[in-house]
Amino acid sequence: MIKFTPVFKIDDLPPGKRQKVDIGDEEILIANVKGEIYAVSDRCGHMGASLSVGEFVNSEIECPLHGTIFDMQTGKVVTEESRKNYLRKFRKDINELLSVLGVPPVKTKALKTYPVEVKDGVVSVGIEEGDKCEKCDCLPAQAGGK
Ligand code: FES
Repeated sequence: MIKFTPVFKIDDLPPGKRQKVDIGDEEILIANVKGEIYAVSDRCGHMGASLSVGEFVNSEIECPLHGTIFDMQTGKVVTEESRKNYLRKFRKDINELLSVLGVPPVKTKALKTYPVEVKDGVVSVGIEEGDKCEKCDCLPAQAGGK
């Protein structure tokens, strides 16, 4: 079951802006993309940096650590190539170092997305309720009860 939690008034998040909120253990990045509100995990799908301080352009948020760009509307990776030269070089250097050590580069995962409701001018974010699995933090109901 999904429980919606009110987070702020829609007027507090004009188009082109984003805001991080914490709901329980979830760190969530909420953005207004041309009047539509979207919510994704604030933690980068590469190595977990906080995306809330990344550059936000149109519907895309760029990780401030290694530059992966995600689409806020889908949570999917747009590109692992940063818009910034120094971040592209930094990531290339890290991957070369990992290669020398015989370690494959860390794959970037898409961001978890959250349902959003806007009612009476208030934005609410939906979180799946249930007991989390002790092994992997999944919700057993989503994993087929295993
Ligand atoms: S932690 Fe975000 S791209 Fe590496």
